[in-house]
Amino acid sequence: MSAELIFVEDFKKEAKKKVSPFGWGYYSAGSVGEQTVHENCEAYKRWRFRPRLLRYVSEVDISTTVLGSNIPFPICIAPTAHHAIACAEGEVETAQAAESLGTGMALSIYSNRTMEEVAHQAPKGTKWCHVQIVRNRDLIKHYVKRAEKAGYNGFIVTIDQAVLGNRHHRYPDGTSFAFKQLHPSTNLLESTKHFMPHMNEIRAFLHLTDGTTEWDSLDWLRSITKLPIAVKGILTSEMALKAVEHKVDGIIVSNHGGRQLDGTFASIDSLPEVVKAVNGRCDVYFDGGIRKGTDIAKAIALGAKAVFVGRPILWGLICGGKEGAQRVLEILRDELVTTMQLLGVKSLDELQTTPDLVVHESYLFSKL
Ligand code: LAC
Repeated sequence: MSAELIFVEDFKKEAKKKVSPFGWGYYSAGSVGEQTVHENCEAYKRWRFRPRLLRYVSEVDISTTVLGSNIPFPICIAPTAHHAIACAEGEVETAQAAESLGTGMALSIYSNRTMEEVAHQAPKGTKWCHVQIVRNRDLIKHYVKRAEKAGYNGFIVTIDQAVLGNRHHRYPDGTSFAFKQLHPSTNLLESTKHFMPHMNEIRAFLHLTDGTTEWDSLDWLRSITKLPIAVKGILTSEMALKAVEHKVDGIIVSNHGGRQLDGTFASIDSLPEVVKAVNGRCDVYFDGGIRKGTDIAKAIALGAKAVFVGRPILWGLICGGKEGAQRVLEILRDELVTTMQLLGVKSLDELQTTPDLVVHESYLFSKL
């Protein structure tokens, strides 16, 4: 791995050169006009710091808990699909990167390696299993029981994929999405084979986006597992209140990296509304457009307990496999610490509770 890879954006540039055009298209695509993909990153610039200086920041503690598991820093790996496009051992390498630093990883239902293989090869790490709940509950129950048996620490339910977003990468050759170029979603197929033996990769993928999931499916999931459950894809106070009503343990504010409904607010702009509505009744986590430690500091100051990172991990995997993903996490972690020191806070609690440490740029004018 090149020593020139200093910032996360360096990994992005290098990854684009190294991965296949199909792989780059799949990972980087957003839906429709890609407004939300763009805004997810741009919106951070509209949130500004108001530091408190001359405070003791020589030691900074950034440890926290995510869905009940202790982690040394508030940055976890988001569930993204198909890591075999990025590196030889796929999600095994991703899980080992998280394990080596003690942080958590969410394994996608569309992973190329099974949850059992990942658990076996990264046994000590905190791991959550990503799931989508669809019409065939026997299939999902089988998947959930596999995760419990393999020792996963909780579930992350994607709720923003009733159907697949309209993405440019579905038409790389001008006609249709080249499913054939994806490696099989072995993790999902390991469960479909018992219930739908003729289910191939394409049908399995589409089966999970059948538009049949409703709020009561969370109650059903709650009834079959005691592990913590977080819902991913909450963007509004209305949806946050619903999630609280259905007794989830956590909410992940997310717009699926801009890959589903184009034209939503950026994740960071949606976060304050959700935090206010939840009012401490469950944990609030966050993903979307994170490229720097300053982005993470803003998300935590606005109420997120921890953040999940998607594409930067994929860039790390492309550039250097397990070590590359590990390096990306270290860069973000170290940048977060420096940001906190420069802000004058030495704990995540102080970062979150110091009034007006991060404000929207309109703040300045509203005070004049
Ligand atoms: C995606 C699906 C797999 O975003 O969640 O590509």
